[in-house]
Amino acid sequence: MTEHCLPDYRVLPTDVAERMAQIRQRECVLEIDHVGKVFAQKRNKTIALEDIEFGVHRREFVCVVGPSGCGKSTLIRILAGLEDATSGRILVDGKPVNGPGPDRGMVFQKYTLFPWLDVCRNVMFGIEMGGTDRVEARRQAMQWLQMVGLEQFATSFPHQLSGGMQQRVAIARALAARPRVLLMDESFSALDAQTRLKMQNYLMEIWRKIDITIVFITHDLDEAIYLADRILVLKPRPGRVEEVIEVPLSRPRRAAQMTSDEFLATKAHLEALIRSFGDTTEETDEGGEDFDIPLLTLVTDKAE
Ligand SMILES: Nc1ncnc2c1ncn2[C@@H]1O[C@H](COP(=O)(O)OP(=O)(O)O)[C@@H](O)[C@H]1O
Ligand SMILES: [Mg+2]
Repeated sequence: MTEHCLPDYRVLPTDVAERMAQIRQRECVLEIDHVGKVFAQKRNKTIALEDIEFGVHRREFVCVVGPSGCGKSTLIRILAGLEDATSGRILVDGKPVNGPGPDRGMVFQKYTLFPWLDVCRNVMFGIEMGGTDRVEARRQAMQWLQMVGLEQFATSFPHQLSGGMQQRVAIARALAARPRVLLMDESFSALDAQTRLKMQNYLMEIWRKIDITIVFITHDLDEAIYLADRILVLKPRPGRVEEVIEVPLSRPRRAAQMTSDEFLATKAHLEALIRSFGDTTEETDEGGEDFDIPLLTLVTDKAE
């Protein structure tokens, strides 16, 4: 298929245009205020991010895409408070944040459940961290497990679950702490295509039911288009916002939309855009995030 027979990806169907207008009227839960990040080693300086300016509205689903090395992981680590910005600030509900906080939940690519805790205790962890007593934490954890369809696995251990199920528990654990924003870094990248699609549908179903704002990083363009209200495209060296795309697809999303003209037009544009950035393959990046040290530190403090 050639690009010229596809519609313009910037033309939104009426229902999508209306939805985007509604979203724009909502307050920004997460503000990225002129954020820059420089990694300075001895004689080597990498500008990982330069002047990133973006607001995520309440209950919006934003995906961030861009070639390897464009600063996606750096950005989400700054949002999570795992890394400091060199310049600019992050605000949640209008308040500047320093360091990690319960207002931001994170789901990584690698499976980060605590192997020595059963599923229910994994989810209870975040709730108990907030000071809730154990009986109430268990009750809430079971509700979150029900939300991700895993209540019958409450007493299973992580190694007894498939990768997809483990990520559902990780989502339940992140949401159970009642964050304002859910941050996801390549969270489904390790899953096979079929499981991945199921997880994407699960996630959108949960997102529809609760008051949560999502920032989801992915290098998979299909995933970004399928999930997002808006897609933030980062360009590398230095990492800057190249374009913000409003996805021209109605909700609720269905897999069948992936072959629609609007979907293909958006994908063709994104592919051309990313190709125009040139070769970035000198970076070694598997597209994911490393196991998170602050989380582990947290665990060893708390484990019995
Ligand atoms: N801790 C670090 N020290 C030095 N350079 C880093 C560090 N982390 C990332 N970078 C560099 O910053 C840039 C962006 O990296 P990253 O955020 O991992 O990109 P992405 O996730 O989009 O692949 C790359 O050039 C990378 O080499
Ligand atoms: Mg990355």
